[in-house]
Amino acid sequence: MACNAAVRWWGDSVWGLRGMKISVVGLGKLGSPIVAVLAAKGYDVVGIDANPDFVEKINNHIAPVEEPQLQEFLTEHKARISATSDWTEAIAGTDITTVIVPTPSGVDGAFRNDYVLSVMDEVGRVLAKKSGYHLVVVHSTTMPGSVGGPIRQRLERAAGRKVGPNLGLCYNPEFIALGDVINGLLHPDFILIGESDKKAGDILEAIYRRVIGPQANIARMNFVNAELTKISVNTYVTMKISFANMLGEICDRLKGADVSVVADAIGRDTRIGKKYLKPAVGYGGPCFPRDTIAFGRVAHLVGGTADLALSTETINRRQVERLSDIVAEIIPPAGTAAVLGLSYKPHTPVVEESQGIMLAKALKDAGLSVVAHDPMASVPARMILGDGVRLVSSAREAIVQADVAVIVTPWPEYAQIAPDWVTDGRSRSVVDCWRQLEPDAFEGRCRIVRLGQQETITVAGRQLAAE
Ligand SMILES: NC(=O)c1ccc[n+]([C@@H]2O[C@H](COP(=O)([O-])OP(=O)(O)OC[C@H]3O[C@@H](n4cnc5c(N)ncnc54)[C@H](O)[C@@H]3O)[C@@H](O)[C@H]2O)c1
Repeated sequence: MACNAAVRWWGDSVWGLRGMKISVVGLGKLGSPIVAVLAAKGYDVVGIDANPDFVEKINNHIAPVEEPQLQEFLTEHKARISATSDWTEAIAGTDITTVIVPTPSGVDGAFRNDYVLSVMDEVGRVLAKKSGYHLVVVHSTTMPGSVGGPIRQRLERAAGRKVGPNLGLCYNPEFIALGDVINGLLHPDFILIGESDKKAGDILEAIYRRVIGPQANIARMNFVNAELTKISVNTYVTMKISFANMLGEICDRLKGADVSVVADAIGRDTRIGKKYLKPAVGYGGPCFPRDTIAFGRVAHLVGGTADLALSTETINRRQVERLSDIVAEIIPPAGTAAVLGLSYKPHTPVVEESQGIMLAKALKDAGLSVVAHDPMASVPARMILGDGVRLVSSAREAIVQADVAVIVTPWPEYAQIAPDWVTDGRSRSVVDCWRQLEPDAFEGRCRIVRLGQQETITVAGRQLAAE
């Protein structure tokens, strides 16, 4: 009761909707959707970014990154959105500053704090001349010990005051998936808050209850617990994905086995659940791989072990090899391979740690002729793959040119691949990693090879004969 009353007081009174201003540092893949959603919920938002192009775009209400619904939100709520390159203007004129800048992984797998620390210097410098309470929220993913350690120290040193009654600090990491950021911000599974003190946590909680609604599921704790929780959630999810893929590898070789049937049945057990238990290709993107590696690094740094995280990563790394082996097995000499899907997941152009990119590279390096297609990612893909992989403008074009096509990213349009696309009589296979196509419908036109289904996968010499 006492807590709810406090939240209501902070939320509706001092930190109420009227007059509340928030600055968002970093207008990238997560920052600009955060700006848009906060403005949609009635907050006045000022964005700031080291990239002047992003600042200009936000001021012109143009989405700086591709993300579903972002442009519509920026247009609709433009009256409450602005951006600047002037730190004093952004920080001094707002009550809360949220920070969503990169924390790239170092060679040892630990996240680097350089960008966040330089932001703390800038924010603190302005706060040194600003009186009254200010809350700083770090959204960027950090290693356990960072927010309560070097990040807090840099902020305090620059601001000339301690984190406490006059300066709040929260760690509030994001679990959001690209391609679904706006929806994810509005309907998250839960909100994770690491807080310097109750007042700081109450303010952030009040904002979330306004943005998401009173039902928001919010876990509050100290910084280090929140930092460990963030990478643990992603490591648990990747462990589930790798478990599913390990099962798929066994089903590739076990006579009569179909991984879809087995995974579906396993997922009915409420202790396990179906989410992310979908055997197909390895995980990729800007979070899952590096959070899993960082988890292993944390264990190592504290003198422990993280065997499950390490095995998860090992299984993930060999998924591209698994696909290349299948292609090598079925492609005719001097044949052409097609890779369908180069973004790490549908509805985003992001190709970081993408299985499609890795497969295209592996097939090219194996000396095959490779064509590839992606509905959104051809520009970044070309920068990585170069001229050695021919990018085509439709899935149909890729399949027509190929002897073996592999559907890597489950873009909805790849589920629409139709038998009448291939009428030239050429012998052709489509490796259907997500088992979306109906093999019988393609009878006589092309062979559908369903990943994780031994009836259609035969890796020579490695079959487990059940005779
Ligand atoms: N992208 C995701 O799916 C995702 C999901 C969860 C968490 N995260 C975490 O969020 C953080 C940011 O990720 P992102 O994908 O939005 O990154 P991003 O690279 O898309 O955007 C970061 C932005 O910060 C700006 N920036 C860098 N240094 C700056 C500085 N000193 N001052 C002002 N602006 C600066 C950059 O110009 C860029 O626009 C990372 O820690 C990442 O791990 C990302």
